[in-house]
Amino acid sequence: MPLIQWDEAMSVGMDELDAQHRELIDLINEAFDAIQRHDEPRMISLVDKMRDYSVVHFQAEEAVLRSLGYPGIDAHADQHRSYADKVDEFRRDMLVKTNLSQIFIFLSRWLTNHIMHEDRKFIPWLPETDDEGA
Ligand SMILES: [Fe+2]
Repeated sequence: MPLIQWDEAMSVGMDELDAQHRELIDLINEAFDAIQRHDEPRMISLVDKMRDYSVVHFQAEEAVLRSLGYPGIDAHADQHRSYADKVDEFRRDMLVKTNLSQIFIFLSRWLTNHIMHEDRKFIPWLPETDDEGA
């Protein structure tokens, strides 16, 4: 069973960013699966991928927010940095820690909360689109 399931409540109203969030969630779910199976080589490679992709995504999201003139950009970028630091720390200590699943669940919850509460705050700054449905 996946650790995180993307659903419409996580949509930030922009296809490009939604697609990146989904990709990140897929990587998290795969990494969690490897952690639970104690599959070290796969776990290392997936946590690295998840870390690298989160940095790529955060840069893309911050560029969008800057281009929109989003007033909360600095605080938002700080949150991204602190998450990237936490993932780095996890990656560094991963092979010597015993409660890996628990720490990883904490990291995943952080991301879900961030998407649902912090990312969704910039929805009003996004340009109007016609394809949002009724
Ligand atoms: Fe964000």
